[in-house]
Amino acid sequence: MIHAEALSKRFKKFHAVESVSFEARDGEVFGLLGPNGAGKTTTLRILSTVLEPDRGTATVSGYDIRKQKAQVRAHLGILVENAGLYGNLTARECMQYIGRLHGLPHAQMNAAIDRIVAELGMTSFIDRKTGGFSRGMTRKVVTGMALVHNPPNVILDEPTAGLDVVSMRAVREMIQRFKEEGRCVILSTHLMSEVEKLCDRVAIIHRGAIMATGSPAELMQQHHASDLETAFVRIIGEEALMAEALREAESEKRSG
Ligand SMILES: Nc1ncnc2c1ncn2[C@@H]1O[C@H](COP(=O)(O)OP(=O)(O)OP(=O)(O)O)[C@@H](O)[C@H]1O
Ligand SMILES: [Mg+2]
Repeated sequence: MIHAEALSKRFKKFHAVESVSFEARDGEVFGLLGPNGAGKTTTLRILSTVLEPDRGTATVSGYDIRKQKAQVRAHLGILVENAGLYGNLTARECMQYIGRLHGLPHAQMNAAIDRIVAELGMTSFIDRKTGGFSRGMTRKVVTGMALVHNPPNVILDEPTAGLDVVSMRAVREMIQRFKEEGRCVILSTHLMSEVEKLCDRVAIIHRGAIMATGSPAELMQQHHASDLETAFVRIIGEEALMAEALREAESEKRSG
């Protein structure tokens, strides 16, 4: 279980996260849905003890993210955005390295790695050095690194970004299995379809603040919407979405 209590974080004068509270339960997939820059990654970095909140706190399996960092890390697997790899290690060595950091017994670690490799379809490159890996391959390796210690809580920051259709399905099936195993899963996304497919409950985050929390069905009902996208737009306001679309078009123009 992950419980966030009035988390706030500022960068200089900018409020990236403002009084964010929610509870993600065991056996549940909890979505953090919001546009670019909403504060999803910042919230997830706070939960994973990488970033200290200015105010508020959170617990992971009951351990406080401020005072019990080691216990929090032992009970949490996290897949971060833009995670990098040690290019001169093989994919397997990257995962073993993390397993050893967690103090896992050798046999247990290798069994966990074999399972992840099969599940994510990594057999063809597991013993290759990761330098030069494609985005999707890198994503799979860092996902494996997050899961090697079999954590009861899993945080996934845009887990399917950059993956092909087959890999995306594999990741979604894995998330479904985590839920069946009674783990607590938090995932961030801006994909409505992903939320509809996977999430039991979702918090809509916008400009650092939570605007609504509930099951997709509840949010649609409360906002008289026939689909989640309509509910989302009503919750965060159409104006905000237009601004985001413009920004994305601009940056696409610049990059390509
Ligand atoms: N280290 C930092 N220094 C300054 N500003 C930051 C820092 N980290 C995040 N921010 C700002 O905080 C806001 C929230 O960023 P965050 O990465 O949490 O958004 P996000 O919801 O994950 O967005 P995306 O969907 O694009 O990944 C953004 O305006 C971002 O520029
Ligand atoms: Mg992000």
